[in-house]
Amino acid sequence: MKKTVKDVDFKGKRVLVRVDFNVPLKDGKITDDRRIRASLPTLEYIREKGGRLIVMSHLGRPKGEVIEHYRMRPVAIKLSELMGIEVKYCEDMNWDVVKKLAFNLEDGEILLLENLRFHKGETKNDQSLVEELLSLGEVYVNDAFGTCHRAHASTAGIPATKKIPSVAGFLVGKELEMLGKILSEPEHPVVAILGGAKVSDKIGVIENLIQKVDSLLIGGGMSYTFLKSMGHEIGTSLLDAESLTLAGQLMAKAKEKNVKFLLPEDIVVAKEIKEGTDHKVVNITDIPSDMMGVDIGPKTIDKFGAVIKDAKTIFWNGPLGVFELDDFAKGTESVATFIAHNSNAISLIGGGDSAAAAEKLGFADKMTHISTGGGASLEFMEGKVLPGIDALDDK
Ligand code: 3PG
Repeated sequence: MKKTVKDVDFKGKRVLVRVDFNVPLKDGKITDDRRIRASLPTLEYIREKGGRLIVMSHLGRPKGEVIEHYRMRPVAIKLSELMGIEVKYCEDMNWDVVKKLAFNLEDGEILLLENLRFHKGETKNDQSLVEELLSLGEVYVNDAFGTCHRAHASTAGIPATKKIPSVAGFLVGKELEMLGKILSEPEHPVVAILGGAKVSDKIGVIENLIQKVDSLLIGGGMSYTFLKSMGHEIGTSLLDAESLTLAGQLMAKAKEKNVKFLLPEDIVVAKEIKEGTDHKVVNITDIPSDMMGVDIGPKTIDKFGAVIKDAKTIFWNGPLGVFELDDFAKGTESVATFIAHNSNAISLIGGGDSAAAAEKLGFADKMTHISTGGGASLEFMEGKVLPGIDALDDK
């Protein structure tokens, strides 16, 4: 068990809080503030307890360069708005300037640092950056679940030094508890629905989940590699050729473990991925050579729906088709609808596209938990140790 914000005294202390405010932006505006809202309980708790907050995050992948559109200003504005207080924002990356602002904070005040990945040392877990950050604070809190799979200076680097108390925030605690429901003693039947483009991205998750679940429902781009490995002709559908043999092995493993491995029976095919393009439903035995699979078909939707209806625990990660285009969104929308309306199961949604789909459909409140982590939630489901959590103080 890791220490949490409940285990430390914040009164009058400068608290370094690593959050994951890597939010989507369009024309300088935040299009989804879910990650910011998700860390508010931690930030508000530290404020209430009299801490002086130095909040830090990355935004995008600027690779150690200052890139204007990755500045944290929109985040500072949104955070001020959501918290109803002024959030001081330090655009300057000179450590003397940053330090002065940090040391001038009063109890309950908040300072947001500039994008951590503007520093070359962040993703390299460089010790000189770790020391600069350490010199700002007296306590460290990690609430950046979405970045806990990265061993970076601000995630694993600071707590690994053991120089200041380092604890988990409420969001990290909640993510571990909720996602952990699948991995330890879940209520059966347990159903995992996996979609997305590449089999290789999900191999570790499938391998680990085969030990835990009763059914695996596979859709989306990666299902064609499995269908091909069964000998079906898949036309111009996405093929992860390097994972073909492995796809067969995973299916064999599922069989050995008595896990139902459900693949599409029918799919929607089109010649290209374009709104308004001609498309039709075909059986997986009849995929035309010049067409590609872009969604699961109605028979598959029914089949998946029946399994979801009886589930007691559900984990869903990855869209079942090209859901960004309305014509090919039916499979993903139907699965989201089944989980939201036709099931009483504990429903855990991995971050990324499936979270976006649930949000877009207005079902976010109907899901038990939507993870703020994309890669982090997948690595957790693979059973991997997340370095940002591992380095925190033990109870
Ligand atoms: C994410 O969006 O998954 C996290 O913020 C981590 O970002 P990264 O994949 O660029 O490390």
